[in-house]
Amino acid sequence: MMLKKMLIGLMASVTLVAGAAQAADLAIVSGDTGTGLAFLRSQLDKFEAATGHKVTVVPMPSSTSDQFGQYRLWLAAGNTDIDVYQTDVIWAPQLADQFLDLTDAAKDIVAQHFPSIIESQTVDGKLVALPAFTDAPALFYRKDLLEKHGKSVPTTWAELETTAKEIMDAERAEAGNQDMWGFVFQGNAYEGLTCDALEWVMSNGGGQIIEADGSISINNEQAAAAIDRAAGWVGTIAPDGVLAYQEEESRGVWQLGNSVFMRNWPYAYALGNGDDSAVKGKFDVAPLPAGDGEGARSAATLGGWNVAVSKYSPDPEAAIELAKFLASPEVQKERAIEQSNLPTIEALYDDADVLAASPFMANWKAIFQNAVPRPSAPTKTDYNEVSSMFWSAVHNTLSGNGTAAENLEILEADLTDLKGNGW
Ligand code: GLC
Repeated sequence: MMLKKMLIGLMASVTLVAGAAQAADLAIVSGDTGTGLAFLRSQLDKFEAATGHKVTVVPMPSSTSDQFGQYRLWLAAGNTDIDVYQTDVIWAPQLADQFLDLTDAAKDIVAQHFPSIIESQTVDGKLVALPAFTDAPALFYRKDLLEKHGKSVPTTWAELETTAKEIMDAERAEAGNQDMWGFVFQGNAYEGLTCDALEWVMSNGGGQIIEADGSISINNEQAAAAIDRAAGWVGTIAPDGVLAYQEEESRGVWQLGNSVFMRNWPYAYALGNGDDSAVKGKFDVAPLPAGDGEGARSAATLGGWNVAVSKYSPDPEAAIELAKFLASPEVQKERAIEQSNLPTIEALYDDADVLAASPFMANWKAIFQNAVPRPSAPTKTDYNEVSSMFWSAVHNTLSGNGTAAENLEILEADLTDLKGNGW
């Protein structure tokens, strides 16, 4: 009898201990753009309620380049404080060694996602991260201003220039709005400029900097013409300050009602229609303009964010559970509605609630599927350096520091050195 009691007592305490061990304290790092962190917190509250785990958010700056620099250091040092990383689509090949392989854990859910996105997060057969959302930029335009001035939505960069200038001049002269600009974009020297400039180059038939086979193609006339054209926007249709703009600074000018056009990612759609926005209900989105010359077409750089689990996490099981939750159809649906982020789950593009909140998504499935990837797959662990050389060459040109032809020639030489016998 005694023995039985003791055994039952022992079993109860074992169960208790096991229960306690299952409730993990997790930490996730995420960049802070728009209301993204508040959204993440609201989802984590649900996860905590459902699982008993606790999750702390470690906020990071908005710039993906700054995040990458910090994460690379933490991971290289084997940081055990952070379990889950929100990762940019371009990072998979560079950080693959530091994250757990999610192939097994995700085998029942990968089929929900677009295969190309799963592929972008797969490095040498290892599934490095689960997709949270995908990204493909848009030309945001002021419907009201185009209508007022009798203009149509530009489909080429040349048209955008003319329309932006005409409306900007007229609004300054007639409406007395001296703060009005024609076009805002991301001109700061960081990853965002690589995205914008890849679009200028690709849309002008100038290739994708480094092609899928690893060859360096950027030093060509069509690429140079596209970058020179963009340099001509600075101080004319765009403020000089655009040279320091990231996504949030462009959105700031736009959302105050001070720009006719903006290049930005879909997240700016929901925010622009928020109650505190001066452009609520006054804008729409279209594909980015095409260049001219041979091979010209509208081009969008492929972006997107994922969730990866650190191999140094002390609670890998709970961390994987969290990653799966953040990639799930439920969270992606709310993300699409509240944050206007593009889902990676095909079925959500036909979801009536999603389309009611973000009608543009009906057209964006095709746009993101045709989006141009940055050369992170062919350049593997060198991508960040490649991109930083590219954005520096472009930033120099935009700043009036050399012509595009001069800067692209130097860039080609530097990329060739970096490549060595690699890639
Ligand atoms: C967006 C994209 C990301 C890209 C970044 C550049 O967040 O989703 O892929 O690297 O913008 O600023």
